[in-house]
Amino acid sequence: MLRFFTAGESHGEALVSNISGLPAGIVITETCIDRELWRRQQGFGRGGRMKIERDHARILSGVRHGRSIGSPIAMLIENRDWQNWNESLPVGEGDPEKHKPVKSPRPGHADLAGALKYNLPEARYILERASARETTARVAAGAVAKQVLAALDIEVLSHVIQVGGARLSRPVGFEELRTLAAKNEVLLNCADEESERRMKAEVDAVLRNGDTVGGVFEVVAHNVPPGLGTYANWDERLDAKLAAAVMSIQAVKAVEIGDGVLGATSHGSAAQDEIGYAGGEDAAGKLRSKFTEFTRAGNHAGGLEGGISNGCDIVVRGHLKPISTLRRPLGSIDFATREPVKAAYERSDVCAVPAAGVVGEAMVALTLAAAALEKFGGDSLVELRRNYEGYCEQLRTY
Ligand SMILES: Cc1cc2nc3c(=O)[nH]c(=O)nc-3n(C[C@H](O)[C@H](O)[C@H](O)COP(=O)(O)O)c2cc1C
Repeated sequence: MLRFFTAGESHGEALVSNISGLPAGIVITETCIDRELWRRQQGFGRGGRMKIERDHARILSGVRHGRSIGSPIAMLIENRDWQNWNESLPVGEGDPEKHKPVKSPRPGHADLAGALKYNLPEARYILERASARETTARVAAGAVAKQVLAALDIEVLSHVIQVGGARLSRPVGFEELRTLAAKNEVLLNCADEESERRMKAEVDAVLRNGDTVGGVFEVVAHNVPPGLGTYANWDERLDAKLAAAVMSIQAVKAVEIGDGVLGATSHGSAAQDEIGYAGGEDAAGKLRSKFTEFTRAGNHAGGLEGGISNGCDIVVRGHLKPISTLRRPLGSIDFATREPVKAAYERSDVCAVPAAGVVGEAMVALTLAAAALEKFGGDSLVELRRNYEGYCEQLRTY
């Protein structure tokens, strides 16, 4: 069973990412993981922290001579900012004078609910773990999951389709997402230049006003075979697992699969993807996976029907609320005096949609890798591939 968990705080010494359940023989390099970490750190509208951090994942266990060995993989990502915080956030008792309390909870953050829950007098420890810095460790685990998927020829990529009121104006194919992911300069991770210009203008406008902006990222998984997940039990549905995984990303407040939102206002005749059969012929104008001769007229379903992958690209969107920390802070209450004050401000992003998209890729990759390993099993790459190819043959001769 593929499982992962993360540990670490925003201004602690390091983040830790632990992933287990991989077969032996999967190619895993620090370079691959660091590339994903770099992608998470990019994006127009990110705060000052990204200038300090240049994340690097050090693999501590589970990989030898460049391949997984079947045991848990532990990775360590140091926080470069730790040098500025080791006196105020020591593991030992330390000097209380050096402590940096968060004296007034920020609306939209876990600050107040967390302080009440953990019975703490202020919100420093809450912020430290609730912060999206934690997503760095998820992206490291996701990079490993992507390597498992690569062994099955499955790719997972993302792009930004909306920032504030500026929406992507045209359809974007998977090849364009590959080109975007290969770029060494990331602005808003949007494939269409004109749309990206409008998105950038939205960020510039809020930046001028001390405000923030949200948006929508889209994750696309390509070459997923039909048959991952099942309707057999509610908690085994792949759509439900993907929704939970993407909803767990900080600031994501809605998740959409395929044209889910549009579907609610469409008629049934327009919202489904009609089925055809190519039978060895050219299926021009129809969607066709590499797995079967069945074709689809479109992909409103986002690659999932009845909680099962159907062979079309899986399309999952994460809708982000605007960042909660504002340079012009909102009203709050001082924890100690209970007097009205402005909410605490700490260096912050004004738009995190491109970075959240990379985190979305990681969460989708982890969910799909778990589903694929559940279906195909195998303790080694050879066994996994053999099971996968046997299933592909079954689909071909269906
Ligand atoms: C990649 C990424 C970066 C983020 N950066 C910030 C930030 O700099 N400042 C901030 O206030 N919130 C930021 N957030 C959002 C907060 O972490 C999130 O809103 C907060 O933890 C409360 O959780 P909730 O919005 O899911 O309820 C970021 C989210 C993501 C996904």
